[in-house]
Amino acid sequence: MRVIASYSIKGGVGKTAASVNLAYAAASAGHETLLIDLDPQGASSFYFRLRTSKKDRGKSFFSRRGRLLKNIKGSNYRRLDILPANLAFRNFDIMLNSMQKSKKKLKQILIPLDDDYDLIILDCPPNLTLLAENIFNAADIIVVPVIPTTLSERTYDQLLGFFDSKGYKKKKIRPFFSMTQQQNRLHTDTINKMGKKHSSFLKSRIGFSQEIEKMGLHREPVLAYASKKSPVQAYRSLFNEVAKALGMK
Ligand SMILES: Nc1ncnc2c1ncn2[C@@H]1O[C@H](COP(=O)(O)OP(=O)(O)OP(=O)(O)O)[C@@H](O)[C@H]1O
Ligand SMILES: [Mg+2]
Repeated sequence: MRVIASYSIKGGVGKTAASVNLAYAAASAGHETLLIDLDPQGASSFYFRLRTSKKDRGKSFFSRRGRLLKNIKGSNYRRLDILPANLAFRNFDIMLNSMQKSKKKLKQILIPLDDDYDLIILDCPPNLTLLAENIFNAADIIVVPVIPTTLSERTYDQLLGFFDSKGYKKKKIRPFFSMTQQQNRLHTDTINKMGKKHSSFLKSRIGFSQEIEKMGLHREPVLAYASKKSPVQAYRSLFNEVAKALGMK
């Protein structure tokens, strides 16, 4: 079983769009896949037409054996299951803080899922908290969408600095350019500059696309409905690159 985290310190950069479409691409390529929506906003759950639960399952998420499995839902797609978000997830950091081995809890609770899934995808909320450290420990690869602008460059450097300061493995971090616009000079300059500076950038880029924006209307991954080829090819190529980096067959 492999674990992919779709993560960024920054909000609104395409983490959820990547999670949802990577999960769909993985399942359609034959991998038993589980998408875990760790963000209390519940955007991934929404895209798969699942309601976020109102029951407070935040604490049991980390503490009770078997609870995690109970809350997993099937999706409308073969080989793709979802663990929907919960409003209580907003308190993850308070809960984790009171636990032992508080930075490795997520990694621990995912271990029993190894029997059922080839791949777990974590849709992460945008912050750098104790939950984020759990994510860094649990993930085999951390894909980071980067909109090619000056501020994104800064937050990406902050992430690398955090990994350095805490001794986490930076080679887990694989950024990719997100919402790129070919006509935008700042975008092309930043892509050139950051691409040269960081050899870890995945080659696949997700261009700005109205088809992707419409996921909220369709409530499906763009891969499930897109008529235009470009976003479909872009996400499939991103999945293939990530799968290769993870040594998945
Ligand atoms: N490539 C794209 N082209 C156009 N719109 C996009 C693209 N990717 C994402 N979007 C849109 O941008 C918005 C933010 O995307 P998304 O929710 O995936 O970001 P996020 O990083 O998960 O945000 P948050 O930090 O709030 O969880 C959404 O409305 C989404 O539909
Ligand atoms: Mg999101």
